Amino acid sequence: MIRLSIDGAKCEGHARCVARAPELFDVDDEGISFVLAEEVPPEHAEAARAAVVACPERAISLSE
Ligand code: F3S
Repeated sequence: MIRLSIDGAKCEGHARCVARAPELFDVDDEGISFVLAEEVPPEHAEAARAAVVACPERAISLSE
């Protein structure tokens, strides 16, 4: 099972994670991203990896 986490101190609100994987991420009122589901269903694994790579702040961590 893949797990996602976001370092809120690194996130600058670029929202590329939401663009890549709207089923996994959303942004709060201050523009900081949060994960909708810490455990990623297998069908969303590719989107999760794409979001990690897309974040210019390297704020998203993924563990398997
Ligand atoms: Fe934040 Fe990176 Fe997403 S800066 S909003 S985690 S693309």
